[in-house]
Amino acid sequence: MTGLKRAKPRHFLDLNRVDAGELRVMLETAGRMKRGAAHDGEAKPLAGKTLAMIFEKPSTRTRVSFEVAASQLGGHAVVLEPSGTQLGRGESVADTARVLSRYVDAIMIRTTKESILLEMAEHATVPVINGLTDVTHPCQLMADVMTFEERLGPIEGKAVAWSGDGNNMATSWIHAAVRFKFELRLACPELLRPPQSVLDWAAAEGGRIVVSSDVEAMVRDADAVVTDTWVSMGDDDGETRHNMLRSYQVDDRMMAMARPTAIFMHCLPAHRGDEVTASVIDGPQSVVWDEAENRLHAQKGILAWCLA
Ligand code: CP
Ligand code: NVA
Repeated sequence: MTGLKRAKPRHFLDLNRVDAGELRVMLETAGRMKRGAAHDGEAKPLAGKTLAMIFEKPSTRTRVSFEVAASQLGGHAVVLEPSGTQLGRGESVADTARVLSRYVDAIMIRTTKESILLEMAEHATVPVINGLTDVTHPCQLMADVMTFEERLGPIEGKAVAWSGDGNNMATSWIHAAVRFKFELRLACPELLRPPQSVLDWAAAEGGRIVVSSDVEAMVRDADAVVTDTWVSMGDDDGETRHNMLRSYQVDDRMMAMARPTAIFMHCLPAHRGDEVTASVIDGPQSVVWDEAENRLHAQKGILAWCLA
């Protein structure tokens, strides 16, 4: 990496830290990339550039979609597993950020703690992208909004129901509901609600978010039903979670409460028989494979925006 870098890099840390208009720019770019309609000068924004990817947790979709996106945009990706780097031996996140910024043009990090992402962003002089933390997963939501709109048109004013753990995905859905102006109804057990600070932020922003343990009330007439694993990476109370979440499983009965045109969404990986039945995830209302594909297109929109 040579030459001058912008004084303030364009990080993609969370949907609540980026304006709605900018998020739309990324989705429009993603759509053009998917249709093969990117105009001259837009198709290869990573030409000669390198993306570093740090994974403190496992990944299939995020890792492969970013690596393929970097390559298709004319660039290159380097994957770093902490165990194989000095990060794993205690080199600080700040020093790692400073050093990587001298080699690469952007850093994507999937980390166990949000504080590590924020420290990386504070000390990097190149854009930092959140590839999932314990509290959010914004790249996934860009692919999810893209998928919803491909199937059902503009998401603004529509109703999305979440059934399950109020986890990192639930928080990013809340951020998305505010930014893209849709109604979000979360059915969660009392002990697994999204953080109150996130709900307070959404309320202050005028978001239409409801949280309840009444699954039927949340799912009724929804345009989309969404869930995620009951045990996220880093959770160590699997049995307790299964007991609390059993009645939140998305099954055919629950899908029948939503609108007849409703879609089923899941970021994957899925656990058939736990958070969703095979009949739903493998059934006609499921859009999970489009969601997975759209990770690739959405990453391109995000990378192009960060490096613009
Ligand atoms: N949905 C998602 O982020 O998948 P991976 O954990 O495989 O990256
Ligand atoms: N909530 C899940 C999402 C995986 C993509 C986790 O954090 O493990």
